[in-house]
Amino acid sequence: MRPVVLLFLVFPFLNADGCNKRFLSTGIVCVCNATYCDQIPPPNVVKGHAALYESSKSGKRLDRSVLTSVGTQPSGDVVITLDPSKKYQKMIGFGAAFTDATGANLKSLPNNMANRLIQQNFSPEGLGYTLGRVPIASCDFSTRVYSYDDVDGDFYLNNFALVREDFQWKIPYIKMAQQFSNYKLKLIASPWAAPGWMKTNGQMQDGGQLLGDFGGPYWQTWTHYLIRFLEEYGKNDISFWAMTPQNEPANGNIKGYPFQTMFLSPEMERDFVKSLLGPALRSSIYGKNVSIIIVDDNRNQIPTYANVILADIDAAVYVAGIGAHWYSDDYFGPELLTQVHNSFPDKFILGTESCPGWQSWAVKPLLGSWDRAEQITADIIGDMNNWSTGFMDWNMALDPAAGPNWANNSADGPIIVFANQTEYYKQPVWYAMGHFSKFALPNGYKIDVQASVKSSLQLTGFVNPDGSRVLVAFNNATDTAKTVVVKDTSNPNSYFQYSVGANTITTLYIQ
Ligand SMILES: *[C@@H]1O[C@H](CO)[C@@H](O)[C@H](O)[C@H]1NC(C)=O
Ligand SMILES: *[C@@H]1O[C@H](CO)[C@@H](O)[C@H](O)[C@H]1NC(C)=O
Ligand SMILES: *[C@@H]1O[C@H](CO)[C@@H](O)[C@H](O)[C@H]1NC(C)=O
Ligand SMILES: *[C@@H]1O[C@H](CO)[C@@H](O)[C@H](O)[C@H]1NC(C)=O
Ligand SMILES: *[C@@H]1O[C@H](CO)[C@@H](O)[C@H](O)[C@H]1NC(C)=O
Ligand SMILES: *[C@@H]1O[C@H](CO)[C@@H](O)[C@H](O)[C@H]1NC(C)=O
Repeated sequence: MRPVVLLFLVFPFLNADGCNKRFLSTGIVCVCNATYCDQIPPPNVVKGHAALYESSKSGKRLDRSVLTSVGTQPSGDVVITLDPSKKYQKMIGFGAAFTDATGANLKSLPNNMANRLIQQNFSPEGLGYTLGRVPIASCDFSTRVYSYDDVDGDFYLNNFALVREDFQWKIPYIKMAQQFSNYKLKLIASPWAAPGWMKTNGQMQDGGQLLGDFGGPYWQTWTHYLIRFLEEYGKNDISFWAMTPQNEPANGNIKGYPFQTMFLSPEMERDFVKSLLGPALRSSIYGKNVSIIIVDDNRNQIPTYANVILADIDAAVYVAGIGAHWYSDDYFGPELLTQVHNSFPDKFILGTESCPGWQSWAVKPLLGSWDRAEQITADIIGDMNNWSTGFMDWNMALDPAAGPNWANNSADGPIIVFANQTEYYKQPVWYAMGHFSKFALPNGYKIDVQASVKSSLQLTGFVNPDGSRVLVAFNNATDTAKTVVVKDTSNPNSYFQYSVGANTITTLYIQ
C-alpha cells in the first residue's frame, strides 16, 4: 500500500544492522561476535524532518524512524516547546574511561572485535564519545596495585617508568579511539594514590595522605610525578586536555578504604592547586595546556570543595571546571550542581565518573538490566538540567565477573566481554549513553525545554553547532505511552508528533 498524505508520516526504518538480541532472565542484551555487531543508523534527515531514536524495556535499541513535520499543531498528551534561543551551558561532551580493566577486556578479544568496540564508542557512526578518562597508574579496576615509581625514597624519580598496563592496555586503545573520533579527544588524567612510600600509611590503598608538611619533599615529588606522567604519555604522542588533582579526594579520610586512594581536604586541594600543581603545569611543556578539573568526587562533596577552592582567587585562576561523580546521587539531588554553578558561573561542571551496580549488595553485572539504563538516563537528564556540560561512564568493557578488579570492588559495565565465547554483550546502559552522546554534540548548548503539563516524562534538550536540535524524552511509566507534540520556537508552524512508550527513552534529532 502506498502511504497517503496523513497529518504526519512515520516511515519505519527496516534495520538490517539491528541488535542481535539475546533474551536472558534479567533482560535483553545485544550480542556482537567476530562477524556481527549492530550499528546505530545515522539520522540521515533533511530540513523539516527529524529522526526519532527509541530504546525500550521491550527491546528497542536506538531504533530509528523518520518523522515529517506538520504545519498545524496536532493534539497530544504533552506539548513540549524547545527554545534554541534560550541557551544554558555550552556542552563539552560524553565519554568513558581507559581503565586497566577496559584494556584487559579489549585485549582478550580478537583484534577486529576490539577495534570495532572502540569504533562503536568513539566514531560518529557509534556513540560519538569525545572524552576519555585515564587513571594515572593503578586503581581498583587494575589487576594489581602499582605506581610508576615503587622505589622507596626515590625523590628524584630516577626510577619513574610507565608499565606494561600502559603499553598493552591503555595507550594502544587511546590511539585507536583518537583515530575513530571526528574530534581531538579530550583526555582527562586522574591519580588514585601516590606511591605507598610517599604516604602516611605506606601503601596506595587504605586511606592515608602525603607524608610531611605541605610543600615539603613528598609534596614536591608528588607534583613532579604527575608532570612526569604527562611527559611520558606525551612521548607516546598522547596529550591530555585536563587533569584532576585527585580522584575522590574525600575517600582518603576513610580508614580501611579498600582500594587506592589519598586524602586531600578542600584546603589541601586548594593549596596543592594554587602553589604546586597549577604552577608546575603552567611551566611544563607537556602540562601547559592541561586544564585543572577540581573535586572529581561525589555530588555531596562538590559544594564543600568548590566553595573552599574557588573562593581563593589565586587557586581559582588555575581551575577550569568541577568534576562530579554519581555515587551519592540517590541521596543528593542535581540542584546542588545549580547552586555551585550560581556561585561560580565561569567554571564548568562535568560528570567524570559513573556506573550502575556499584553497591556492595548489587548484582554485577546484571545482564540486560533495563532498570540500570533508566537510572543513568534519569541521572543524565537531571545533570543536564542543572548545568552539567557532559557525562562520563566508567569502564568501557568488563568481564563476566564485572572485573577485573583486584579489590573485588566490581561494578556493572556497558559492555560485558565473554572472551571464552568470542562474544560481547552490549547492555541497555550502552544505548542509554548513546541517546545523549551521539546527538548532543560538543560546543552545542543545553536549551530551554518546557512541557505543557507535568507527566511521567523526563526531558532535556540541546542545540548543536550546526543548528540541529535535540530532545531527549524518557518515559518512566511502566504502563502508559504518552503522545507528545514538539514545538520548536526557531521554526514556528512546524510540529512533530510521536508516542513515547512505557519504559522508553527517545531522542528526537531535528534537522
Ligand atoms: C555471529 O552472529 C551472527 C548473527 O547472529 C551469526 O549469523 C554468525 O553465525 C555469528 N558468527 C559467529 C562466528 O559465531
Ligand atoms: C599547547 O597549545 C599551543 C597553542 O594552542 C600549541 O601550539 C602547543 O603545541 C600545545 N602544546 C602541547 C604540548 O600540546
Ligand atoms: C521512576 O518514577 C518513579 C515514580 O515517580 C520514581 O520513584 C523512580 O525513581 C523513577 N525512576 C527513574 C529511573 O527515573
Ligand atoms: C535540576 O534538575 C531537576 C531534576 O531534573 C529539575 O526538576 C530542576 O528544574 C533542575 N533545576 C534547574 C535550575 O533547572
Ligand atoms: C576477592 O575475592 C576473592 C574470592 O572471594 C578472595 O579470595 C580475595 O581474597 C578477595 N580479595 C580482596 C582484596 O578482598
Ligand atoms: C564462558 O564464561 C562464562 C562466564 O564465566 C560462563 O558462564 C560460560 O559458560 C562460558 N562459556 C563457555 C562456552 O565456556
